[in-house]
Amino acid sequence: MVIHTQKETLVQALSSIKKNDKIGFVPTMGALHNGHMSLVNKALEENSLVVVSIFVNPTQFNNQADLKKYPRTPDDDISLLKSVKGEIIVYFPEISDLYEDAITAKKYNFGNLENEMEGKHRKGHFDGVGTVVSKLLKIVKPDTAYFGEKDFQQLQIVKKLVTIEELPVKIVGCPILREENGLAMSSRNKRLSETQFDEAAVIYKILKEVQQKFASTSITDLNAMVAERFLQNPNLKLEYFEIADEETLKTATHKNSKSKYRAFVAVFAGKVRLIDNISLN
Ligand code: PAJ
Repeated sequence: MVIHTQKETLVQALSSIKKNDKIGFVPTMGALHNGHMSLVNKALEENSLVVVSIFVNPTQFNNQADLKKYPRTPDDDISLLKSVKGEIIVYFPEISDLYEDAITAKKYNFGNLENEMEGKHRKGHFDGVGTVVSKLLKIVKPDTAYFGEKDFQQLQIVKKLVTIEELPVKIVGCPILREENGLAMSSRNKRLSETQFDEAAVIYKILKEVQQKFASTSITDLNAMVAERFLQNPNLKLEYFEIADEETLKTATHKNSKSKYRAFVAVFAGKVRLIDNISLN
């Protein structure tokens, strides 16, 4: 495993690989866990070489306290990546390597995908994600890039980004990896106390209940049920729960037999913000 901290040396190393070799790419913000590693392993199965970037991107944080407290575990990340069999190149840049002049995000129009759910609650977040993912894809030039369904809205936005910018890369979505108690794995889980970690298990239980009842229950009743369930768990503060069309991410109020639906949730456990989602049909 080789680590590059500068794009020039990374680009040079990638330019010397053989024509037929496929490059897979897994962008991350570090504090790696098995969810990230499932993407890395999938990328290793499908490519001869995998680039993993570790970069806590400042422009996608709408909340400075969240950016400051974002977990950073570089030594553990490197050991974890070293423990995997296969050819991995790590790109671990300083902010100035990606943002040369100003630490600002480009403004994007993702055809309204950016204004739903996370976009409503984290103003400018997807401009920051689009900006950094675009920069990274242009540096790494992978054949395929892997993103988790854990951040389903982000996955849809990245698919839109590559069509808008005509980037020659295939975007692959990967399933959500969960802790034994059902909580979706997340770097932010490292900030939960043991009690909060245990209590947060209810998020997935509620999503499973919505999934089980989806065929027989109206969306209005499901929304009311979820609000009620979270009120019974006073240590979890519901920010939003929505059932939305998987493609457009538009809030659904009624079911239509042709659409694919997903339930999306954002919850605060103390100061830690957790998101999750589940496919419904
Ligand atoms: P980060 O939160 O580090 O996540 C990196 C990738 O891992 C994302 O594609 C995310 O969806 C995926 N991932 C996280 N937890 C997962 C889980 N439990 N199961 C499956 N996949 C999971 O997402 C970002 O970083 C950033 O926004 C980034 C795309 C790197 C741009 O800065």
